[in-house]
Amino acid sequence: MAAETESQYLHVLSAFLAMEPVDSVIALARGCTGGLITESAQRFFWEMCVKAAANGNASYAKKLLKKLISEVELDNGEVLDEVYEEYALYMSAASKEYALVKENTRITKFISFLFPEGLYKHPSCPSSRKLVVPLQCSLNMLEGDTGCSIWPSSLFLSEFVLSFPNLFANKSCFEVGSGVGMVGICLAHVKAKKVILTDGDLLTLVNMKRNLERNHLNYDDELLKQTGEAQSTVVKCIHLPWETASESELSEYRPDVILGADVIYDPSCLPHLLRVLVALLRRQPKRDKVSLETGDTAQQGRSPVVAYIASVIRNADTFNAFLTLVDQMDLSITDVTTELSPQFRLLPYMHSYDRSSVRLFSISSR
Ligand SMILES: C[S@@+](CC[C@H](N)C(=O)[O-])C[C@H]1O[C@@H](n2cnc3c(N)ncnc32)[C@H](O)[C@@H]1O
Repeated sequence: MAAETESQYLHVLSAFLAMEPVDSVIALARGCTGGLITESAQRFFWEMCVKAAANGNASYAKKLLKKLISEVELDNGEVLDEVYEEYALYMSAASKEYALVKENTRITKFISFLFPEGLYKHPSCPSSRKLVVPLQCSLNMLEGDTGCSIWPSSLFLSEFVLSFPNLFANKSCFEVGSGVGMVGICLAHVKAKKVILTDGDLLTLVNMKRNLERNHLNYDDELLKQTGEAQSTVVKCIHLPWETASESELSEYRPDVILGADVIYDPSCLPHLLRVLVALLRRQPKRDKVSLETGDTAQQGRSPVVAYIASVIRNADTFNAFLTLVDQMDLSITDVTTELSPQFRLLPYMHSYDRSSVRLFSISSR
């Protein structure tokens, strides 16, 4: 594809790769061609669909081509032969492919964070204006105890991390209920010193590790030692069900920043989640920091630990129960959605993501 075509269709391409609803992808294409679906737009989609099918996302490609054909026909336009042929191919392979899709509900979405020109310098690659994160996820939102899907709060938290890199660079970051691992990948990108991703679901953890590998992040200490690979950010994946996490285990982590996206939804889990947050927010002084003169164990030069929790408030009772527990556990909570809202939309093409539905809270010990 010519470079200029690629830049013209940047939003369309990003939406396609993120597997946005096909109506939305076609609407974006109409937006950049002035209304009609041009021949070059058809050719662009055809090429993308061929690639998607080769990557195992044939069923999405088929849906898109079907929509494309019907829209071009509605416009009384001419559908390109290759578009018809590609669609016919999926139709003839339909029964075989459907059987496959039924067996394997995993797909790969490519989430492209687009940085506005001149407004953002990325720490690891100042000249690059986009960060593309491939993520294996599930078509079934409930798979892996909901942890194999991408939820809106993690899109928000990822935008937040990329928009305020200084809050995380060189910090030790700890995420609860990490799901597919996208926030952790963004944290590694802004050069967090250490990233600990956790989840209570084992299937989710396997999927998360796969995603770290796909993003060239090595989570395995042993492998790191063997290959001698120099990686600026240490990333770890840990099985951490809130119900059974012990105080002694939690006191070992001592993060600077705690993160969580869409973890406030199950009332029965909330007391356990809060207990975990309390333990992580209470930073234990390190023994090696004891002053020889005064015997003082206070840590110097480190700002107070803070937790950033992004959440869509789907049920007011559940959220109020969360607030009550926060108060009972002597934590303070502030809604920082407006104050710390990412200044620029890094996912402008993603119409399925309603950023305004997400709230961001900062929580700390009183
Ligand atoms: C709605 S998903 C959100 C996933 C991810 N943070 C996102 O926003 O895309 C909730 C996540 O919390 C995890 N989770 C739920 N209950 C948990 C518990 N009791 N202990 C640990 N993790 C839990 C789930 O496995 C899942 O990964």
